[in-house]
Amino acid sequence: MKHEIVEKNLGLMSVLIVLVISGGFLGEVFPLFFQDEVNEPIAGLQPLTPLEMEGRDIYIREGCHVCHTQMIRPFRAETERYGHYSVAGEFVYDHPFLWGSKRTGPDLARVGGRYSDEWQRQHLYDPRSVVPESNMPAFPWLFERQLDGRKTERKLRAFQRMGVPYTDEQIATAAEEVRGKFEIDALVAYLQQLGTVISTKR
Ligand code: HEC
Repeated sequence: MKHEIVEKNLGLMSVLIVLVISGGFLGEVFPLFFQDEVNEPIAGLQPLTPLEMEGRDIYIREGCHVCHTQMIRPFRAETERYGHYSVAGEFVYDHPFLWGSKRTGPDLARVGGRYSDEWQRQHLYDPRSVVPESNMPAFPWLFERQLDGRKTERKLRAFQRMGVPYTDEQIATAAEEVRGKFEIDALVAYLQQLGTVISTKR
């Protein structure tokens, strides 16, 4: 039987397995590299400002992405609650993506502008003072720590290398822009721009 030849020949079977799996990759993933719809930034998309970029790193450091997704799926239950579903072109400058996979708290893909800066600060300082039933942890240290901007320039430079259109002038003044600001300022700046490229009148 022909099948027996494959089953009794590990080398041959390995080669065939690799072929089948890479066939799946070629068919499903590879074409996406050439599809403008998922590679081109949507109209109006701007790279994060240096302060927002620092905020993004604090978001990652504090593990916000462990409880919050940034990805609204195209289902009615989601769009009614969070706004327009996420589209690929919104994330072209996001390295790595912070889509997340678990929602202990709500999705944040369009939280930008939903609350005032004051609300965001109060909520991060003491979530239960504004949402009594909340089980989100408090982050009071963000109000004490200041940014020194030592790595800001290098961060932007790295993103520039990955194709994010930062100008050299923006990079040169980046450290100055963030120096002395508090971590909470950076995080709130980051949150307030999330998802605002697509208007979400709800
Ligand atoms: C242990 C899980 C957990 C972690 C970690 C966490 N959150 Fe939350 N978050 C929640 C829950 C639960 C809620 C819903 C209750 C509330 O509003 O406080 C929430 C709500 C929010 C909201 C309001 C969203 C809305 O649409 O009402 C924002 C904004 C937010 N979190 C930001 C953050 C940020 C920024 C961080 C990281 C510094 C963070 N969260 C970390 C669980 C978490």
